[in-house]
Amino acid sequence: MGLRIKLAATAIGILVISGCSKNAQLGEEMDHSTMNQHMEDMDHSSMGDMMEGHMSHDDVVMLHDSTGENELKIPTMLERDAGEGIIYTVRAQKGKTEIFDGTKTETYGYNGSFLGPMLRFEKGDKVKIRTINELDEDTTFHWHGLEVSANVDGGPHDALKPGEEKVIEFEVAQEAATLWFHPHPHGKTSEQVYNGLAGLIYIEDDNSKSIGLPSIYGENDIPLIFQDRKFDDKKQLNYTAVKNEDGTIGDTLLINGTLNPKLTVKKEKVRLRLVNGSNARNYTFKLSSGDPFVQIATDGGLLNEPVTLKKVTLTPSERAEIIVDFSQMNSEGEIALINEEGSVLLPFKVSDQSGAVSRIPGEMNDFSLIEEEMDLPVTKKIELFGMMKMVTINGKKFDPERIDFTQQQGVTEVWEIYNKPDMMGGMIHPFHIHGAQFKIISRDGEAPPENERGWKDSISVKPDEKVKIAIQFKHKGVYMFHCHILEHEDNGMMGQILIE
Ligand code: C2O
Ligand code: CU
Ligand code: CU
Repeated sequence: MGLRIKLAATAIGILVISGCSKNAQLGEEMDHSTMNQHMEDMDHSSMGDMMEGHMSHDDVVMLHDSTGENELKIPTMLERDAGEGIIYTVRAQKGKTEIFDGTKTETYGYNGSFLGPMLRFEKGDKVKIRTINELDEDTTFHWHGLEVSANVDGGPHDALKPGEEKVIEFEVAQEAATLWFHPHPHGKTSEQVYNGLAGLIYIEDDNSKSIGLPSIYGENDIPLIFQDRKFDDKKQLNYTAVKNEDGTIGDTLLINGTLNPKLTVKKEKVRLRLVNGSNARNYTFKLSSGDPFVQIATDGGLLNEPVTLKKVTLTPSERAEIIVDFSQMNSEGEIALINEEGSVLLPFKVSDQSGAVSRIPGEMNDFSLIEEEMDLPVTKKIELFGMMKMVTINGKKFDPERIDFTQQQGVTEVWEIYNKPDMMGGMIHPFHIHGAQFKIISRDGEAPPENERGWKDSISVKPDEKVKIAIQFKHKGVYMFHCHILEHEDNGMMGQILIE
């Protein structure tokens, strides 16, 4: 593949320089007919537009190191409304936030000016949420990873107009997990998330509460929402100015909305719930000491056994829970969460206090991928392709009027997701499906790595990679599936499945 891609890259290079002649030779050996067709349809300027800003993930701008001057903010746990039952109110609103000392940045948030609270559910809860749109544009409330009926999933069909509200109800029927919520309005998801709309969901169940994991919220159970931003001279989030059609990337990291965060921990095991809430950036997390840590959960639940790792990669919308053991570390020892490029994301300050005694049990869950599921034929094929504005799934762009697939409620099917390389070599697409948690059967025919042998709702697919998953929907209705690079989603890299 390498050679072909290089040839292709050269061809497109010539093409651009020569002003995109319609007769440009793209080379016989290339079979990217969709792309070729698009390119022939384009005029010179849109060709320029297409290339401008496209990045392979190798030349993504580095993040500034966190100076550690601000203690990490912990999202507040949302209080229930008074009255019968489990009722919450979630408002999408505009506000001003002091991200930088002494400066107000215009932001969006849920029940506050920036980001949102944490909603804590227990398996079995019957939840009622009053969702209110206090923005002056349409929005939706999407519960990423939650297995709920499509009419409360908050996809692009469920837009609330400014001032509108809607009460939704569902039963939490899935196991303990770290999920999140964010808006999903047609064509505007990337901008609204970028401006600050994102919140957390914790689901707990009897298992997660009884196996001894660190679980004191904000103390040894810490959510970390990673979002990169690029602020303008006035320290504003000027989305239109920095927008990149291939995924907006910034040089400044906010964790839970905190600039230059640090986290003070006691000498104990600390559970970090990592959430990639960025529009497009991938993170490969490591400890600066090079020490290993333990991953205990994927997007949708606990792993069967803890997996010891020295690094973990999360593409947009993926989550992982990890445990870092600070019990033997002392305050002088400098340790930080860094990314693979070496940027300091979150320095830790280890206090002298000893903390809770918690443990990492050897057995945590009973997730299984059974023989019958592995032997099922592939019945749905997804082909991810393109870049910038020319992104497609199975050669098509999102059309709210079109149903791309149907599947029976409660029936497991195997989907094959293929990331078809383009002339630039292609890029990773994080593929997400609403309304269900799925199991990875294989990556390019091989069993998935140990830390992906758990429930997933988003999955990274590398160029030319084929991933097979087994998926079952518990509820009916129309659900989205899409690339979670938010600009790709907004540019139409999304389809719909009807569950009947
Ligand atoms: Cu995170 Cu369509 O969703
Ligand atoms: Cu989702
Ligand atoms: Cu994509």
